[in-house]
Amino acid sequence: MPALALDLAAADQDKGAVIFDRKCSTCHDVTGQTVSGPPLNGVVGRKTASVEGFPYSDAMRGLDGAWTPELLDAYLVKPRRMLPGTAMSFGGLKKDEDRRDLIGWLATLKP
Ligand code: HEC
Repeated sequence: MPALALDLAAADQDKGAVIFDRKCSTCHDVTGQTVSGPPLNGVVGRKTASVEGFPYSDAMRGLDGAWTPELLDAYLVKPRRMLPGTAMSFGGLKKDEDRRDLIGWLATLKP
């Protein structure tokens, strides 16, 4: 039910922060630093593959546009399905509520 996942007004941001910690923080930072993945503070609305100097995959570079909540939702449910060839080794976040809470929290972070 993507509609539920994207009801960001209903996002539980505290839960989103916990999900980030558990599932994303080994590879992503939210203070502007590159870890093995690009920093994610400010990612909502940011142009895709636009962190200066980050060695994105060709697949990621081929994406056009910006990380809208909808695009993040489609990517995070199963990254390799939306973007075969992505360098992000992450199976996916299956639960609609988890993606909603996480994207809702990411949207609060400043670039
Ligand atoms: C095992 C390491 C790893 C994990 C875990 C991981 N990522 Fe990534 N992520 C990456 C890498 C590497 C890239 C670059 C992918 C590419 O170039 O194809 C990336 C790219 C991204 C991008 C694109 C950013 C941009 O600048 O265009 C987003 C958004 C993203 N990850 C979100 C997440 C979220 C949210 C989670 C947790 C649910 C997560 N990632 C978990 C390694 C990881």
